[in-house]
Amino acid sequence: MKLGDMKFEIDDGVYPPAEDTYLLLDAIEIDGTDSFLEVGCGAGLISMAAARVAKTVIAIDSSLDAIKNTARNFIANSVDGRSCVVQSDLLSALARDARFSVIAFNPPYLPEDGIVTEMDHVFVGGGSGVELTERFIQQAIPHLEKSGRIYIVVSTLADIERITNFMESQNLQVNVIAEAQFFFEAIRILKGRS
Ligand SMILES: C[S@@+](CC[C@H](N)C(=O)[O-])C[C@H]1O[C@@H](n2cnc3c(N)ncnc32)[C@H](O)[C@@H]1O
Repeated sequence: MKLGDMKFEIDDGVYPPAEDTYLLLDAIEIDGTDSFLEVGCGAGLISMAAARVAKTVIAIDSSLDAIKNTARNFIANSVDGRSCVVQSDLLSALARDARFSVIAFNPPYLPEDGIVTEMDHVFVGGGSGVELTERFIQQAIPHLEKSGRIYIVVSTLADIERITNFMESQNLQVNVIAEAQFFFEAIRILKGRS
């Protein structure tokens, strides 16, 4: 996906788009036939780019600050007509019959370190860093259309093999479609196809 011109604000307490955001953005392939769901939308950059292309967009976050921030960015860019924002723990607030052709998540993936901070919800993915991602995969699959795609950001700081095995155990065909090396970690984009 491409960004193009857009008005974009980031509120305090909301994850500012970073290298992982842009790697995911570049890796996602969508067109006008797609129904797109982003879990963990943050300030909404990826969902906004999707809303310019896809048929429909739903952006979810558990953080009220993130939801308000994304909603304001949607309105500022006039993409609120075919997109909506939902505060939810992962996909739990969705109707059981809601289906998407593309589902994306740039999750918190760091392991707990015993130090609790106000930004844990954007960085910490559970005791070993992958628990939230696994819960996401479990919840996303029933909402994925036949031949749908799931895009997930993973880091070498977490257990990528465990996530890949879990996706495969859920009958997804998994590929690494992008990778970037940073000072202390490599970030990859996993694409799972149903
Ligand atoms: C690393 S940030 C990614 C933000 C944005 N998508 C981006 O790429 O810049 C992770 C986001 O997931 C959200 N999040 C964490 N736990 C969640 C949950 N259980 N359900 C929904 N969203 C969650 C956080 O609030 C945060 O906005």
